[in-house]
Amino acid sequence: MKVSASILSCDFSNMEKEISKVENSDLDFLHIDVMDGHFVPNISFGPHVVDCVKKISHIPFETHLMTEYPLDFVEKFKSSDTIIFHLESQNDPMDVICAIKDMGKKVGISLKPKTDVLKIFPYLEQIDLVLIMTVEPGFGGQLFMKNQVKKIKVLKEIIDNKNFKIDLEVDGGINEKNAKICKENGANIVVAGSYIFKSDNPEKSINLLKSI
Ligand code: DX5
Ligand code: ZN
Repeated sequence: MKVSASILSCDFSNMEKEISKVENSDLDFLHIDVMDGHFVPNISFGPHVVDCVKKISHIPFETHLMTEYPLDFVEKFKSSDTIIFHLESQNDPMDVICAIKDMGKKVGISLKPKTDVLKIFPYLEQIDLVLIMTVEPGFGGQLFMKNQVKKIKVLKEIIDNKNFKIDLEVDGGINEKNAKICKENGANIVVAGSYIFKSDNPEKSINLLKSI
């Protein structure tokens, strides 16, 4: 299993110390949760903060845009290797996909828990990653929604049938138990915030998830 650590669960008063806890681990990505206070009822941080974090980390970044108008922001996240936007946002998904591809970045689309998985099918051929939310986006530290697991299974079947090269990532409430369920249903990346940064031993938590 690949692992992405959400910095939303870091102690923001000392980012450098927090990032140093995972910097020498086998972590695959740092997950950057960007919130605009409209698409979700919370505000996190913007591109300036992300650029500052980039200076203290060599780990690839994936930015998860929880913004009403992703097109207004994609170009501001050049430090990310992958940019993920929400299918439920207000821009035409094809326009956002093209804008991200024009930057030479990988493209991901995320689905909120209440969104029908069928809605993403028309875009699967154009993208590199699907991010299934297993919490309502907006906050870290919530409980994993088991009823989202069937979405992973349905997507995995479609991806395999059509032979698409797409990562299937799960975000929200991840721990070692439900990460196993995600893997069994076809996910190959999990995002974990609290499980990693609120742990006494973040590196051990990462290794546990990676071994699944
Ligand atoms: C929720 C974010 C998640 C969150 C994960 O809106 O997209 O990435 O930070 O945090 P945990 O693992 O604590 O649920
Ligand atoms: Zn996220």
